[in-house]
Amino acid sequence: MVSRVIPVDRFDLVIFGGTGDLARRKIFPGLYRRFLAGQIPAEARIIGAARSDLDDASFRQSVAEAIDEFVGPAKRDAAAIQGFLERIRYVAVDARGEEGWAQLATMVRPDVVSAFYMSVAPALFGDLAERLKLHGIARADSRIVVEKPFGRDLDSARALNATLAAHFDERQIYRIDHYLGKETVQNLMAVRFANILFEPLWNAQYVDHVQITVAETVGVGGRGSYYDRSGAMRDMVQNHLMQLLCLIAMEAPYHFDPDAVRDEKLKVIRALQPVGPDDIVRGQYRARGGEPGYLDDAENPASRTESYIALKVHVANWRWKGTPFYLRTGKRLRARTSEIAITFKEPPHSIFDEAGGDWRENVLVIRLQPNEGMNLRVMIKEPGPGGMRLVQVPLDMSFAEALGEDGADIPDAYERLIMDVIRGNQTLFMRGDEVEAAWAWTDPVIAGWEARGDRPQGYDPGSSGPEDALMLIHRDGRRWREIQE
Ligand code: BG6
Repeated sequence: MVSRVIPVDRFDLVIFGGTGDLARRKIFPGLYRRFLAGQIPAEARIIGAARSDLDDASFRQSVAEAIDEFVGPAKRDAAAIQGFLERIRYVAVDARGEEGWAQLATMVRPDVVSAFYMSVAPALFGDLAERLKLHGIARADSRIVVEKPFGRDLDSARALNATLAAHFDERQIYRIDHYLGKETVQNLMAVRFANILFEPLWNAQYVDHVQITVAETVGVGGRGSYYDRSGAMRDMVQNHLMQLLCLIAMEAPYHFDPDAVRDEKLKVIRALQPVGPDDIVRGQYRARGGEPGYLDDAENPASRTESYIALKVHVANWRWKGTPFYLRTGKRLRARTSEIAITFKEPPHSIFDEAGGDWRENVLVIRLQPNEGMNLRVMIKEPGPGGMRLVQVPLDMSFAEALGEDGADIPDAYERLIMDVIRGNQTLFMRGDEVEAAWAWTDPVIAGWEARGDRPQGYDPGSSGPEDALMLIHRDGRRWREIQE
């Protein structure tokens, strides 16, 4: 199968924070892979902008090093890397001063698509926006890309939205939640809205509960000071897990159109019920065998920030009344795995007697990473004589097997999202009101545990999280799925 490559127009992409970590790990390697796919035309310009005083050659050298480090050997080709580097320029700019802006103004062409990626601290968004406008660099059709963290509560998110709104129209603003760029996450919409099969069952009448798990094996080492001010709730739940929940719970948009999709997600966020203290468990990984614990990584021995969180939430609308959504995410867990599991209810009446075997609920598992795919567990008759014994088997689909090379070669989330910016498609980006609604739900949950003075519970690295998280779901007569790759 040959990928269909959608051509893009000529463009100028300016990356503020061009020497930063995200640019090195994700943005430049992602752009290089899009170059290999033929999507970075010869007339495209990619302009790195940062404070360091570099020339084009030394900046290109650092991009080449990033490609070496973060692009797999199969895709590294000296001639291709050279071709890609030729599209790259560098300008030293001072976000809070005048240096570099006049030069940048001469580099961004007035007659091609222009996009400005603010891969910098949110405190600089306003300064950059102001100077882009002041120097006539950003136009009414330019695009602005911003990263999370988009605020740390409702007030700060509102302030950021207001800062951007002072200079740009909402249609120009692309707020990245990289989970929306993941192939399987988009597939949630395809599965739900391109098939008739699931929709009749996709409601509280037939769905017993939903589990959303994003488990990581890494700790917070290296980003301890950021993470300690954030924690799993702000870092993962308010954005990534919430977006997954929205895609599972939302109504069908009338069209796959940016505002139609985002309107439906917004309704889900607004329908989220407050979460009470009994429905949350927070954890912190312990030190083990010479490996640092959370408190070592965070460098604050008294920190109460959570590196793990599990919670139960209800979506208060007709479709989902009574179906709990269990969310959990954490660092230093047993395996790196992200999945959504939809567990269906029992058939209304069993025609098989007790000897009929091991009946279990149907479960649809959507594996987001790794081994992207879907798995539907169904009951069948166990083969052989001896009566009607039932057994559960998987209807299994992995992208790699079902789609051959294309399934194995899934683009990174950033590749897709950056190209969507260039194409002017906001469907996979968060709108300002969505971000604010997500904080409006998150804030009281955090305020609740802060007011109670709750401490997170310790858990062992390599485990499935704190003991109490088991209880959170056990007391409803349910079980978490195993965290495994
Ligand atoms: C980021 C969080 O947004 O997502 C990190 O800040 C987290 O803490 C990361 O590790 C997980 O992303 P992925 O794509 O590796 O699942």
